[in-house]
Amino acid sequence: MVKVAVLGAAGGIGQPLSLLLKINPKISELSLFDVVNVPGVGADLSHINSDSTTSSHLPSSREDKTALASALKGADLVVIPAGVPRKPGMTRDDLFNINAGIVKSLAEGIAENAPNAFVLIISNPVNSTVPIVAETFKKAGIYDPKKLFGVTTLDIVRANTFISQLYPKETKPSDFNIAVVGGHSGETIVPLYSLGNSGSYLEKLSEEDKKKLINRVQFGGDEVVQAKNGAGSATLSMAYAGYRLAESILKAVDGSSGITECAFVDLDNTAIKGAKEAKELVGLGFFSLPVVLGPGGAEEVKYDVLEKASAEEKKLLEVAKEQLAKNIEKGVAFSKQ
Ligand code: NAD
Ligand code: LMR
Repeated sequence: MVKVAVLGAAGGIGQPLSLLLKINPKISELSLFDVVNVPGVGADLSHINSDSTTSSHLPSSREDKTALASALKGADLVVIPAGVPRKPGMTRDDLFNINAGIVKSLAEGIAENAPNAFVLIISNPVNSTVPIVAETFKKAGIYDPKKLFGVTTLDIVRANTFISQLYPKETKPSDFNIAVVGGHSGETIVPLYSLGNSGSYLEKLSEEDKKKLINRVQFGGDEVVQAKNGAGSATLSMAYAGYRLAESILKAVDGSSGITECAFVDLDNTAIKGAKEAKELVGLGFFSLPVVLGPGGAEEVKYDVLEKASAEEKKLLEVAKEQLAKNIEKGVAFSKQ
């Protein structure tokens, strides 16, 4: 019996993500929470003849905390796509002022009502919202770093697609699983194309084309924001990516071994194998790395990718670390206010 709660379920990501979760046979109960429109989304999804039940939870006022509590009670996994998306000309950090407060209050609700749940944070800026959730959980005395994930999977999905598009005859996107490390915004996103089966394809590119490819992964979100022209940011590809991480965690919890997904996790603890070594290498409390998943969540971080990265990628990592440090610090400072 697995209960999954989606907070922000009526939004652009929330709806397709909830649809994908609704048809996952491992999930027995899908619980949808939003501050608008969620009864309609829930009624619609509830007609699908998959075996899970669907419930919708809409607060009756700003002060009403019972809807969130009932949405979360007994949840094993919580996914958070709640918050405002970007418009053209904005950075993810420009969303901080609104989304930090939303994420903090949802984290307080999780601490109270689902303290043992796996928590997947989609709301931007991920580089700051994940530290906010960690600090909120620490304050509540329920923090398990192995169960908190910042969702960076869309960067991996893009990295796989974009390199394959350069070699349409020889490759398919599904041939690749690029390690994308660092954070989730602009230059903090570092695709390590030199590793694994993408290495030989990278080598065939001119220096200019290599730069273009990396830049496209780093700023892939902007491509969608511009194409949507004021109507938001990536929703469908994000729902796919968020679902991929949620599904991998559910499989690992169910006993499948050897599942690895890149995610933005806490390195500032010894609960996760390799976190101490990774922290020594990057000097930061949070970083996205390939994470080996197990029944308890993040079992191990594969920091060896940082050592194996090419000289060019190591330079990109230095730039990423500098920016990421500020984003993390901003989140921590906010939650201590
Ligand atoms: P959206 O505006 O379509 O949907 C957001 C939903 O959150 C809305 O339904 C809104 O009512 C709801 N919401 C607002 N405050 C809430 C609260 N306190 N509790 C519950 N729900 C609340 O936006 P979207 O396109 O779905 O994007 C959501 C977030 O995801 C944005 O911050 C966006 O930047 C981020 N995002 C992250 C990634 C990633 O890779 N991590 C990718 C795409 C988008
Ligand atoms: C993305 O990468 O698509 C998301 O983080 C949304 C955005 O603001 O670009």
